[in-house]
Amino acid sequence: MRKTIAVIAGDGVGSEIMAEALKVLRLVERHFKHEFFVQEMLAGGAAFDAYGTHLPKRTLSVCESSDAILFGAVGGPVSEIHTEKWKDAEKNVLLTLRKTFDLFANLRPIFASGKDIDFIIVRELVSGIYFGEHKEAEYRELKEASSAEDAMRYSSFEIERIARVAFSIARDRERKRITSVDKANVLACSRLWRKVVEDVAKDFQEVSYEHMFVDNAAMQIMKNPKQFDVLLTENMFGDILSDEASVLAGSLGLLPSASMNEKKFGLFEPIHGSAQDIAGKDIVNPVGMILSVALMLELSFSMKQEALCIKQAVFRVLKDGYGTPDCARESTTPLKTNEMGDRICNYLNTFFLEKSLLK
Ligand code: IPM
Ligand code: MG
Repeated sequence: MRKTIAVIAGDGVGSEIMAEALKVLRLVERHFKHEFFVQEMLAGGAAFDAYGTHLPKRTLSVCESSDAILFGAVGGPVSEIHTEKWKDAEKNVLLTLRKTFDLFANLRPIFASGKDIDFIIVRELVSGIYFGEHKEAEYRELKEASSAEDAMRYSSFEIERIARVAFSIARDRERKRITSVDKANVLACSRLWRKVVEDVAKDFQEVSYEHMFVDNAAMQIMKNPKQFDVLLTENMFGDILSDEASVLAGSLGLLPSASMNEKKFGLFEPIHGSAQDIAGKDIVNPVGMILSVALMLELSFSMKQEALCIKQAVFRVLKDGYGTPDCARESTTPLKTNEMGDRICNYLNTFFLEKSLLK
């Protein structure tokens, strides 16, 4: 198969993890005889330096003409986040890409090997409080307090389409169970959310579902994470719960994500950010980025076998006790970023060799 991929390595550790992801992609390409045309584009700080904008038009138009976007990370050092170069960099790039391509379905698989934890967060990504009106009232007189406002809005159409994605995913999983997370005891949006989820559920009789308040869900994720199979939620709750849930995996560096639209076009990125504090040290974990390649192959290109090989190689490396310093346990053999990528490639090569011997 021939596919065009827009590659945005971005800032901080972005280029280090992307280099490893592309190694894996090239191996799969060769073994399965695909042709992947990769176009590397600028976004974030590097784009700001070159063009004075975080998301140049050219980057957007290359994304538009591609079959998928592979994304590293954007954002500046915490101390410089208010400078012209870095202000709003993450928002300008990620939120614009999400809105432009209507990437409403954010899928964040959460796993912890050997602990029976295997669930997926399905987060609505292009509406809710992120995209409602944001107002900041001017501070006019000293006596007058300033105020700010962020509006949360959901239409039943927006809720229905993300609910359908979650129920379809649940239908294909073993436990077939949805936990829909809201705050219906307080928020009008959440009450509409419940009603729509219940309507959608009627079309998926084989899937069981429950509603859970978000505060309780935050507690349950820590207390009894095994209970979750598919966790469906709105934009901001999903943002918060997915960072919380990532702790279960042992490191933020391990987890991938997919953000997709109705046409299966998607942006694939690890859930961590640009991690400027460890950039350039060759210690960042490339696993979240490499598993994002697997998600891209599976979800956008329908290459199930290819994706499975990558996942197996990654899990094998982790099971054998290799890891970058972020997942250090006593038993972990510490590897540099590129050694971790190489090890995953070695396993992949072994799989491919075994497979061709079996033929
Ligand atoms: C995420 C990030 C983004 C979000 C930020 C960088 C805008 O935290 O993808 O989870 O809040 O959605
Ligand atoms: Mg987040």
